Amino acid sequence: MAKRTLLVTGASGQLGAEVLRRLVALGGDDELIAGSRDPNKLAGLEGVTARRVDFDDDEATLQAAFEGVDRALIISTDALDRPGRRAEQQLRAIQAAKAAGVKHVLYTSLAKAAEDTAIPIGLDHVRTEQALVGSGLGYTVLRNNLYAEVLLGSVGHAVSSGKLVTARGDGAIAYVTRSDCARAAAAALASDFDGQRVLEISGPEALTGDQLAALLSELSGRPVTHLSVPVDGFVQGLVAAGMPEVFAKLFASFEVGAARGELGEVSDAVQALSGAPATPIRATLAAALKA
Ligand SMILES: NC(=O)c1ccc[n+]([C@@H]2O[C@H](COP(=O)([O-])OP(=O)(O)OC[C@H]3O[C@@H](n4cnc5c(N)ncnc54)[C@H](OP(=O)(O)O)[C@@H]3O)[C@@H](O)[C@H]2O)c1
Repeated sequence: MAKRTLLVTGASGQLGAEVLRRLVALGGDDELIAGSRDPNKLAGLEGVTARRVDFDDDEATLQAAFEGVDRALIISTDALDRPGRRAEQQLRAIQAAKAAGVKHVLYTSLAKAAEDTAIPIGLDHVRTEQALVGSGLGYTVLRNNLYAEVLLGSVGHAVSSGKLVTARGDGAIAYVTRSDCARAAAAALASDFDGQRVLEISGPEALTGDQLAALLSELSGRPVTHLSVPVDGFVQGLVAAGMPEVFAKLFASFEVGAARGELGEVSDAVQALSGAPATPIRATLAAALKA
């Protein structure tokens, strides 16, 4: 394969940094560029060239950031202050990548991204996917399910209180570790796939709240039961525990999405892309409880 230039945006973020570490570990001849709003934060990344990439930069500056790049992984941003802001940023990035001659764009989306999603932040992903489809570029959409790390935030309380409180009813979630998302993204970026594809990136199984509670009981040795409450009560509970309402509503929307089956699809994409299976949630929970 001819030597190519691969760019990862958001390289100082948790996912971006791990994608780059995995690309370096894969070896190969490709030139690796780590893009970040603040390249100074990338000093610890070895084997890569740091470059400023800020989707809020003006058009010419943003286009220059993609110059010379063959394949680019655009990591969705964390700008949640205003609905639609992320989509605006990401559309500008796609436009700049196309203008600069990038041939294949990869994008980190959300499971089952669709117009009728119960997860409002999913709409920015839908718009971004639509822009990719309309761009005429080659693309790989990586629809990451919820990170397993999101679940870990409620595990300690569930074990100590004996109650895993959700609002997802019988809905199941195919949690995937951030590390597996990075492994899949690195492999997809380094691949020679030049068509157009949308991949659901999930863990190896989807578990309901009842199944997660049973797993927590088994792993902790303490009884944990699943309690699915109405969404309003779920939000109130998080706010009472000190979470800002805006985040409580965001987490609640994942619950509604799960109840509607938006987060339950299991795929083998992590294994198909990277050659190794995705991490079972059992292993993630066991490691967290041990720690
Ligand atoms: N599936 C899930 O459960 C889940 C959970 C949390 C987040 N996410 C999404 O996945 C993304 C990556 O996750 P993570 O864990 O790595 O999040 P993170 O550590 O919070 O990283 C946030 C990312 O946003 C980038 N960013 C922010 N503003 C930007 C701008 N103006 N231009 C370009 N990049 C910008 C940052 O890049 P620099 O700082 O390097 O510029 C950084 O990579 C998040 O940003 C979010 O969209 C998914």
